[in-house]
Amino acid sequence: MNIIVVKDNAAGGKKAFEIIKNGIENGAKVLGLATGSTPISLYNEMIANDLDFSDITSVNLDEYVGLGEDDDQSYRYFMNEHLFNKKPFKETFVPDGKNPNAEEETARYEKIVDEHPIDIQILGIGVNGHIGFNEPGSPLDGTTSKVALTQSTIDANARFFANEDDVPRFAYSMGIGSIMKGKKIVLMAYGENKADAVKEMVEGPVTTHLPASALQNHTDVTIIVDEAAASKLS
Ligand code: F6R
Repeated sequence: MNIIVVKDNAAGGKKAFEIIKNGIENGAKVLGLATGSTPISLYNEMIANDLDFSDITSVNLDEYVGLGEDDDQSYRYFMNEHLFNKKPFKETFVPDGKNPNAEEETARYEKIVDEHPIDIQILGIGVNGHIGFNEPGSPLDGTTSKVALTQSTIDANARFFANEDDVPRFAYSMGIGSIMKGKKIVLMAYGENKADAVKEMVEGPVTTHLPASALQNHTDVTIIVDEAAASKLS
């Protein structure tokens, strides 16, 4: 794992953007994208820069089950607001949270992942070490599935909702196996509350208890962390 320590979130966004720019200039066509607070500085860089994304396809990690693009808490809405409405892409994929048929939706989405091999996968990390919505205990070779959110993730995400009861309990998420298919992986983590997860991801054993530890088995991973998130690394 290549670890880059930056001053803050804004510097991390610039660093991740450099990697994406370099990738696109060298032929990358498909980006794997994430939601949450972490990648916002990266998306702001993408919007501020004149790099053209009109030939680039994006494949997002996950979506809440039950929420559609008009729900302002859906990940599709988040992506439209924070990136796609301001930076046109060729094609953008997010799981369809409105499809009640989980078997159909997860198979459909994994096919999308296979038909659009991800050149650069952007990730954040949960305080419990999740990537996508792959919570502790998820299989390290899993494909897209319907997953139940843990209480820790519900608590962490409640800040975006009017109250905790509104946080959906299920999501469709690319699996850890789907994520590992990405040719290059860039994970960003900012803030002290991520320091334990970052330490376990980098220095702990590869274990389903800490889903991001699976990235140790990938040959091209860059971790961008601020000083607080890096503070427990030895
Ligand atoms: C988002 C996602 C999640 C987040 C993680 C960190 O699409 O898949 O794994 O990356 O929960 O969230 P933030 O960035 O809000 O701390």
